[in-house]
Parts: sequence; structure tokens; C-alpha cells
Amino acid sequence: MIIAIDGPSGAGKSTLGKMLAKHLGLLYLDTGAMYRAVALSAIRKGIELGEADLVAKNARDAEIELKGEVDSLQVFLDGENVSDDIRTLEIAQAASVVSTISDVRRTMVDLQRKLGEQSPKGCVLEGRDIGSVVFPKADIKFFLTAKPEARARRRFEEDTAKGRVSTYEQTLTEINERDERDVTRVDSPLTIAEDAVVIDTSELDLSEVFEQMLTKVSESKPLAEARTK
Ligand code: DC
Repeated sequence: MIIAIDGPSGAGKSTLGKMLAKHLGLLYLDTGAMYRAVALSAIRKGIELGEADLVAKNARDAEIELKGEVDSLQVFLDGENVSDDIRTLEIAQAASVVSTISDVRRTMVDLQRKLGEQSPKGCVLEGRDIGSVVFPKADIKFFLTAKPEARARRRFEEDTAKGRVSTYEQTLTEINERDERDVTRVDSPLTIAEDAVVIDTSELDLSEVFEQMLTKVSESKPLAEARTK
């Protein structure tokens, strides 16, 4: 079973994706972490992010792995655990830039499909183009969204809890910049797939959204079929 979760940053995709994957015993793939690893790799090697061909070649050569349990998923770049290094503001912006490069996207989409198809029970993938490009035939597609202010507030609270220094205003500006880039890029922009279940999480708490998602999943074809067997 393939579950696609798309939406802008700070809408709750990661938290809810992990909750669903854990509950259903599925693999969880954070595809944003992969674009972040591509960005980190380029920056570490001194490659200009504007040099699309070099960034894309470097992405092809890089070994990006996601390992571990859903709750403690670790991201490895060429064998090194970079889980913390990819979570900086600089890398978030850089990931948004490298993700506009079509050749980079092609490499990541191939890898995401391979990992998703290999998982024995299925996979929850979260990102921006899962339902539209990576798995257009996903069993169920969610599009989680929320007002920019609500998303910035959540991101800011997460960052503060992790000891990162920023202000709510900075976080809001950063989120708006990234949204603009992710929505307006030419290749696979953030869009709502036609058959996606759209949930606005601005006014809902986590457990309410989780219940809504679980209900949709249990109504979806594979689980409904499994029950009649
Ligand atoms: O979800 P995130 O913040 O970790 O994603 C980082 C960037 O990667 C985001 O700005 C857009 C890009 N991205 C993408 O283009 N396609 C995906 N499937 C996932 C992320």
C-alpha cells in the first residue's frame, strides 16, 4: 500500500506521516530529507547551487540513505549520519533551490520509487510531488495544508524547542519564500493532486487530523479488500 502525503512546509506532514506509518506498520520516507541531503552535499563540496549540471551530477553520485525506525529515522550521506546537519535554515533554503533542478528531481524520484516499491507492506511518503509525480497511482493521497501563520508558529516552536535561534517573523518570512519557490517552480511544482484528500490543519489538533486520515485509509481500496478476504 502506498500512501502519499503532500503539502507546504509546517502543515504537519512529517508528524502525521510518521504516526500513520507506525500505526499501519509501513515504511516511512521523508523525501524532503533527500533534497536536503543533496543540498548539503553540494554546499560541502563548494558547488554553486546555480550550477545545475554540477549539482545534478553530484546528486547522482551521492549515496543517500534513510535508515532506522520511523521515530528515529536517520539520514546518511555517503555513509555519514547527517540527520542534524540537514535541519538548518540554510539547508532548508538550499534544498528548495536544488529541488528546482529537473535532473536532481529525476534522480530523487527514481530513488523514491525504488524504495517505495521495495518495501514489503508498503510505504508512507511525504513531500511535494508524491501524489502528482512519484506515485500518481498511490492508494491514497493526502494534501495537508494550513495558513502560513499557523505553519510558521509550529515551525518556530519546534525550532525553539530544539534550541535554534530565530524569531517568529524570520520563520514566517522563510516559510513564505520557500512556499513561493516550491509552488512556482517549472518542474513538479507543489500542487494538489486531483484525487487528493485535502485537510486544512490550521485549526485542528494532531489527533483530530490523525483520526481523519485513518478513517480515509481504512475506507481505501486495499484495506477494504483485505477485510472482505
Ligand atoms: O519537507 P522539507 O522542508 O524537508 O523539504 C525541503 C525542500 O525540498 C522543500 O523546500 C521542497 C523540496 N522538496 C521537493 O521539491 N519535493 C519533495 N518531494 C520534497 C521536498
